[in-house]
Amino acid sequence: MDMLAVELGPLSLANPILTASGTFGGSDEMADFFDLSRLGAIVLKTVTLHPRRGNRPPRVAETPFGMLNSIGLPNGGIDYFIENQLPVLREIPTTRVVNVAGDTVDQFIEGVRRLDAAGGMDAFELNISCPNVEGGRLPFGSDPKVTEVLVRGVRGVTDLPLIVKLSPNVTDVVVIAQAAAAGGADVLSLINTLLGMAIDPRTKRPKLGSNFGGLSGPAIKPVAVKMVWEVSRSVDLPVIGIGGIRDVDDVIEFLLAGASAVQVGTANYLEPTVIPRLLDELPPRLEELGVSQVTDLIGAVRPFEEI
Ligand code: SIN
Repeated sequence: MDMLAVELGPLSLANPILTASGTFGGSDEMADFFDLSRLGAIVLKTVTLHPRRGNRPPRVAETPFGMLNSIGLPNGGIDYFIENQLPVLREIPTTRVVNVAGDTVDQFIEGVRRLDAAGGMDAFELNISCPNVEGGRLPFGSDPKVTEVLVRGVRGVTDLPLIVKLSPNVTDVVVIAQAAAAGGADVLSLINTLLGMAIDPRTKRPKLGSNFGGLSGPAIKPVAVKMVWEVSRSVDLPVIGIGGIRDVDDVIEFLLAGASAVQVGTANYLEPTVIPRLLDELPPRLEELGVSQVTDLIGAVRPFEEI
């Protein structure tokens, strides 16, 4: 077996490095940078049942070691996706994951039903955690009952693997993870962005047009590692770790915490070839650490005894 191969529930991946939704385009926009067949899986920007214009600009702001965004899930809607993006996606020779969101539970279900009927993807990722679309209301993924109902509803319209992407903006992420599992999720991905705000002292205006948004990048990595550790110990589903990965030891850290794979997001903006670099660096780093299979690292953290 190839030293980088991993199983993610029903999905067999050539390696554990995926793109994070929203940071890698809506089909093959990044193909000029590297051979996309190298990806463990490609995860696309969220699509919604109906077209969305997105939020008032500015939509991104830099912060120390991080990035705030409030994009608002702009996209052409699922019919546009099926006609224009899906044919391109079908030609990308890797595992293809379509990320889906909706304003209501029924929109999630109908969106996945239509996509599933169109075919051409290998899995869905349900974005129940976007902090930027509810007009200040909490996302679906902050309520365990809604999470379970939503995932169960979607489970009823597709046999493809369901990855459920969790929000860190909750009191107890384990409760939400358990609800997603009860609804029929196959895999959990975490974390989406942490809510944050930045203000320009000269203008007294928030730096984002929607006042606040979601923080990503290296600043959130320790929060993400801790949540991956908690969830992977408590829920019997494979976990994809997300949050601030830019170096090979970041990948290893998430695997040790219990992730079976990772998604790389914000680092793509700084270094569009970060993923092939990590894929080049991972095998020699594993050898240095005396690890023969990347799967040997999953959950292998040696936590101190609780005091
Ligand atoms: C956005 O489009 O506002 C970000 C999406 C997300 O964080 O889920």
